[in-house]
Amino acid sequence: MKKVLVVGASGATGKLLVQQLLQQGIKVVAILRTTSTLLQTVDTKTNLHIVRANISDMSKYDLGLHLEGCDAVFSCLGHNLTFKGIFGKPRLLVTETIEKISRVIESINADKKVKIVLMNTTGNSNRDIPEQLPLSQRCIVSLLRLLLPPHVDNEAAADFLRLHVGQTHKYIEWVVVRPDGLIDENNVTEYDIYPSPTRNPIFDAGQTSRINVANFMSNLVINLELWDTWKGKMPVIYNQALCEREQI
Ligand SMILES: NC(=O)c1ccc[n+]([C@@H]2O[C@H](COP(=O)([O-])OP(=O)(O)OC[C@H]3O[C@@H](n4cnc5c(N)ncnc54)[C@H](OP(=O)(O)O)[C@@H]3O)[C@@H](O)[C@H]2O)c1
Repeated sequence: MKKVLVVGASGATGKLLVQQLLQQGIKVVAILRTTSTLLQTVDTKTNLHIVRANISDMSKYDLGLHLEGCDAVFSCLGHNLTFKGIFGKPRLLVTETIEKISRVIESINADKKVKIVLMNTTGNSNRDIPEQLPLSQRCIVSLLRLLLPPHVDNEAAADFLRLHVGQTHKYIEWVVVRPDGLIDENNVTEYDIYPSPTRNPIFDAGQTSRINVANFMSNLVINLELWDTWKGKMPVIYNQALCEREQI
């Protein structure tokens, strides 16, 4: 049976991801802050192990105990949209968490590679490939870097995987998933995956439902062919428009 660890499991997307992983018969270790509400949407508790801890304060030793035997780690972490969440500490919540998890995976020295799947944003470009951003978008992104610490964090977290873990790491493989404007829907619908954004995320943003993000993230770890297609890349996910769905 596959075992995975999820951080940000109490978030709007994290909850849906945990639910889909459990439905696939995967054993899930979910790290939740003591203040987080329980996973109300999760009805099966059989394979769910909840760890009550703040990931930023957790020792590497304790994290290692939970990472032991894991096939994959998912991050749906994001800064809470409050003044404290956006401007308070930890400013590099996602980056520091991904780095800490990576270092612990390295120290475990397991005989199989661990997959890291990081939820990110189309506002971040993949600088491993030529993604030509229009000048207007580059100006806004520069402004976001100055004004919004969470944007810097999203960029730095993906950069850590791109530049420090890289493409040939002995113990880690990764995928950075980039949704566009997040919306909530009740069911998984058709969605498209692209290597780079096909729309301008600031002036012509598309929509991506959280449940589709969760579906794609869980499928990455279940479907080996899908993993091989996207490993070391930063796929972009958009919901298919209703008219596109009806044409199929
Ligand atoms: N909004 C958009 O349109 C959009 C578009 C593309 C990408 N994104 C990205 O998508 C990601 C997730 O989105 P979402 O809406 O699913 O997020 P969300 O509902 O806000 O969930 C955020 C998660 O991060 C956890 N968290 C926040 N601050 C923490 C801290 N200091 N220590 C430990 N855990 C902490 C939260 O835990 P608690 O429950 O304990 O607070 C929660 O589990 C974000 O990185 C965001 O940048 C957003």
